[in-house]
Amino acid sequence: MCGIVGYVGARPALGIVVDALRRMEYRGYDSAGVAILDGDGGLAVEKKAGRLENLDKQIAEVGAETLRGSTGIGHTRWATHGQPTDRNAHPHVSADGRLAVVHNGIIENYSPLRVELENAGVEFSSDTDTETAVHLLEREYASGEHAGDFVASAYATLRRLEGAFTLVFTHADHPGTIVAARRSTPLVVGVGDGEMFVASDVTAFIEHTRDAVELGQDEVVVITADSYSITDFDGAATGGTPFHIDWDLAAAEKGGYDYFMLKEIAEQPEALESTMSGHLQDGRIVLDEQRLSDQDLRDVDKVFVVACGTAYHAGLIAKYAIEHWTRLPVEVELASEFRYRDPVLGRSTLVVAISQSGETADTLEAVRHAKDQKARVLAICNTNGAQIPRESDAVLYTHAGPEIGVASTKCFLAQIAAAYLVGLALAQALGTKYQDEVVREFTELEQIPAAVQTVLEQMEPVRELARSFASSDTVLFLGRHVGYPVALEGALKLKELAYIHAEGFAAGELKHGPIALIEDGLPVIIVMPSPTGRALLHSKMVSNIREIQARGATTIVIAEPDDEAAAAIADHLIPIPATPTLLQPLVSTVPLQVFAATVAQSRGYDVDKPRNLAKSVTVE
Ligand code: AGP
Repeated sequence: MCGIVGYVGARPALGIVVDALRRMEYRGYDSAGVAILDGDGGLAVEKKAGRLENLDKQIAEVGAETLRGSTGIGHTRWATHGQPTDRNAHPHVSADGRLAVVHNGIIENYSPLRVELENAGVEFSSDTDTETAVHLLEREYASGEHAGDFVASAYATLRRLEGAFTLVFTHADHPGTIVAARRSTPLVVGVGDGEMFVASDVTAFIEHTRDAVELGQDEVVVITADSYSITDFDGAATGGTPFHIDWDLAAAEKGGYDYFMLKEIAEQPEALESTMSGHLQDGRIVLDEQRLSDQDLRDVDKVFVVACGTAYHAGLIAKYAIEHWTRLPVEVELASEFRYRDPVLGRSTLVVAISQSGETADTLEAVRHAKDQKARVLAICNTNGAQIPRESDAVLYTHAGPEIGVASTKCFLAQIAAAYLVGLALAQALGTKYQDEVVREFTELEQIPAAVQTVLEQMEPVRELARSFASSDTVLFLGRHVGYPVALEGALKLKELAYIHAEGFAAGELKHGPIALIEDGLPVIIVMPSPTGRALLHSKMVSNIREIQARGATTIVIAEPDDEAAAAIADHLIPIPATPTLLQPLVSTVPLQVFAATVAQSRGYDVDKPRNLAKSVTVE
């Protein structure tokens, strides 16, 4: 995700815009830029790769007097398409230098639009999807049906775009006016006294006004210093949702949540949508920056997944899907063990390295070992340009946005979704799935963000349950099939957030020793297989629950709504939507994240910065 802001008012725009970007750096910090209208028909743009401080220095060098004016837009970037470089930094500008745009999201149909524009003689100056929007609007404004009409030309442009986007435009012919649009990524209006703001979130303008209006799907807002009007993409008035911000600035940066991690748990639907967005084009799975041809994928006869911690658990889940879809053997290995056991790999081995930071030393060394053994390496990473993707043959970026909480949540779900995309791309290349089957699996995956949102809206009982178990000193987690790695992840979350001894088991393994741990009142959380999708596993898990209850365990069962057997025996039941078997981890993990975070809060711990941990472990 990126940070976007626009300002129109009586005050100099530059300082307001840059301060707003500083407050939104947590949304992305690969590059930053501003565009300011000077009111005399001039548009001045400064942009720079790296942190906002780099832009500050550049502005100081060129002199802020070139950026005077009271209309301006700004952007701090979390790169998705195109490396985090000066040329790819936003704002992007039209060929005549009079129109600028900043963008959050992904324009999925940017490739055909770019071809259309280049065939019409447009020269692109960046590798971004965003630039197509500014050239389209320039053409509409110059010679379209509504030539000269900034707003109507913007409508015409927006109707051609596909994907998820927040776009903010400013035009030198129209100082005092900003046009902004929203589809699937956030956009709010800040209503000031003689000044107006648009932004990705309220952090950008909360110090200036607490009166805001949220835009809905496919809506456009036109702001001037003393007005705003909200319409759909055809210009029909809608209205937006006014609200008053009662958070303080610190809370606003966390979106009103007490901790970034809680906000990131809530962002998981968006993280999944952004990660999947654009990867099905003309009925085929497309992996961005894949750099592995279909033939390279067809040559694969074995897959290794290497990762650490939560990313390792994502790899364990990916194994079930990739093996099921491709019939290729998949080994999942802790990166810290991988190279020391002298694994059997070679030119026809695909090593998938999963890492949200892209800097984890254990995983990086595993990648280097794999490359030494002539294996092909594909990185799944959340950080554009990090060391692991740089040293890999290909990369599939998760688009979860910056994950500030040390304990990984939204990146975990995004990693699973990305690994599934790799599995579908392999199945597509190998022909182990027909194209309609690939599309069907992808379509099912696209339904998951809504299912996750449903779970998020039902979490209050889980919080109450967590508070009631906050004094426990041991909690066990059980799962079968794809539920087993979810049990491991749930245990890791509780360990790293609440410092409780927690352990995940394959439920079938319990009777081979760990059942000795069961005693009166011991909380055991069970991830229940679907009663329909996995009936045999489901019945065995029912038996497991009975075994531990007979020995005094208190069972907390995560199960589908119509799972009557689970409801009949569980001491506590946590419902999750029914999903296809392989997709259940994407919904069953969420209650475990919330449970662990709530226990930690009940214990008075810092949920964002647990003791002894670092967000990226860059030592072996
Ligand atoms: C996740 O909650 C943990 N903080 C940790 O296990 C993490 O997943 C692991 O260190 C791997 O990090 P990476 O994804 O950046 O490689």
